[in-house]
Amino acid sequence: MTLIKTDYLVIGSGIAGLSFALKTAEWGNVTIITKKRDSESNTNYAQGGIAAVTATDDHPALHLEDTLKAGAGLCHRRAVKLLVSEGPQRIIDLINWGVEFTRQQGAYDLGREGGHSRNRILHAADMTGAEIERALLVAIRKKKNIRLLEDHIAIDLVTEKHALNNDKRLFNTCFGAYVLNEKSREVFPIQAKVTLLATGGAARVYKHSTNPAISTGDGIAMAHRAKAKIANMEFIQFHPTALFDPEGPPFLISEALRGFGGILKRRDGHRFMPEYDERAELAPRDIVARAIDAEMKKMGENNVLLDMTHLPKDLVRRRFPGIYDYCLNNLRIDITNEPIPVVPAAHYICGGVMTDLEGRSSINNLFAVGECAHSGVHGANRLASNSLLEAVVFSHRAAFASKEKLSEMDKIKIPQWDDSGVLNEAEWLLLKHNLEELQMVMWDYVGIVRSKQHLFRAKRRVELLFQEIEDYYQRTAVTGPILELRNLTEIATLIIRSALKRHESRGLHFMSDFPQTDDRFLKDTVL
Ligand code: FAD
Ligand code: SIN
Repeated sequence: MTLIKTDYLVIGSGIAGLSFALKTAEWGNVTIITKKRDSESNTNYAQGGIAAVTATDDHPALHLEDTLKAGAGLCHRRAVKLLVSEGPQRIIDLINWGVEFTRQQGAYDLGREGGHSRNRILHAADMTGAEIERALLVAIRKKKNIRLLEDHIAIDLVTEKHALNNDKRLFNTCFGAYVLNEKSREVFPIQAKVTLLATGGAARVYKHSTNPAISTGDGIAMAHRAKAKIANMEFIQFHPTALFDPEGPPFLISEALRGFGGILKRRDGHRFMPEYDERAELAPRDIVARAIDAEMKKMGENNVLLDMTHLPKDLVRRRFPGIYDYCLNNLRIDITNEPIPVVPAAHYICGGVMTDLEGRSSINNLFAVGECAHSGVHGANRLASNSLLEAVVFSHRAAFASKEKLSEMDKIKIPQWDDSGVLNEAEWLLLKHNLEELQMVMWDYVGIVRSKQHLFRAKRRVELLFQEIEDYYQRTAVTGPILELRNLTEIATLIIRSALKRHESRGLHFMSDFPQTDDRFLKDTVL
């Protein structure tokens, strides 16, 4: 029977997990688990870049102001201050780890995205995330005290409920996680002095999403089952411009294209964004996504167009080589000659495991960083390209804060996983249908525009699915897909419960029956 003991258990190998591991490996031994191959993460698909103040015409106070404005009153000012003031130093960390950002004549080329008052987005062409993953994984492989286990999926956190120890002082404490090795099918505990959730987002709870398949909210669901506080789950960011390609996998058309001069048009050629906001295509995402949604409904169409054809062709090709190639190879669209069909899709979850400014969750020895965490930075709407930055800034802070935990918990005993009485049933087709139903319900009733009636409809349907899936989970040997479905159903429940508590429209949460902002709700939704 396997039992791994480690100082640090890091769950997830995106920017949050890898940067935390690189820091903590300076003083502890680290085990990273990741449920697919090492680079598979939201980070790997990030296009636009990472926002930070590096230009002489820019200032942290401006980045602060832009972030607070996008967040519609719910950003935690202290968290944002840390983000913008420590951000530039963390960019230097990334560069020291080997990340190569695009330069123009020696200086870093800075892009612009919606809601930013300055050009401040560092990027590696339009494949920033892949470059970050590449560099961090190279750095990780050089560290002897970091072990990275691919195809290992965390099932649940180990808390005092599981540990064989009567010490009352250990109440509300995390001791690691139960993990499924997807190759050998073995389930075993990893015992850790500190556990970091760096499990990323949950946008695959929606039918249309920009996220890869790993984005199933596992960390948030595990933390919720362990009774950690979860905040602001109603704030789901819909990216205005995913590629409209019903047959293909999700693919994003970066906001950086609009920052470069791209124009949104209806299929009849009409440019509509100036009618919705004076910033037109560069308004924050919630405004652009709602405008597209309204235009599609008005015209009865499935997509709008993003037009780049008026821009210098060679510059477009050079600045966006990944998007150019993808559209040409998969849809036979040359984006310098033809507009790109785009549609909004679920992209990012602003809420998550509630943490303090050092990434501590409400459970002792459990930290959370990156998209799965709610650090208070994003409020009711995340400013573009602030997510990668949040992950590195708060990973650094969490790493140093976690040092004090390393002397604890040598005498804990964790029992092996008990799967007596479970069957190896193959009902995957039914589960697949459950997943499709869940994603459809969330898209139809808990999407860009919501109402109380729709949320209650969604609640009833998701409750039924939850019971069915939980019952199946209890009597069946665990597999990756069933774990993910179980977690997505839990996430859907959390989103709906949170959305039902907010009787107003703010940022990303738009209720047609409460279209105004109401300052009685100027607070986080904590579950
Ligand atoms: P991720 O990078 O998603 O990593 C999560 C990791 O956890 C993965 O390795 C996953 O396999 C693992 N994992 C999950 N559950 C388990 C489990 N149960 N057991 C084991 N492992 C598990 N943000 C920006 O700031 N700028 C951008 O330009 C940008 N572009 C984007 C483009 C796209 C297409 C997408 C999808 C997102 C984009 N974002 C961007 C958002 C940003 O990429 C993410 O928010 C950020 O990368 C999250 O990093 P993370 O480390 O928290 O999570
Ligand atoms: C994009 O490139 O449009 C994504 C940026 C982000 O999500 O921050």
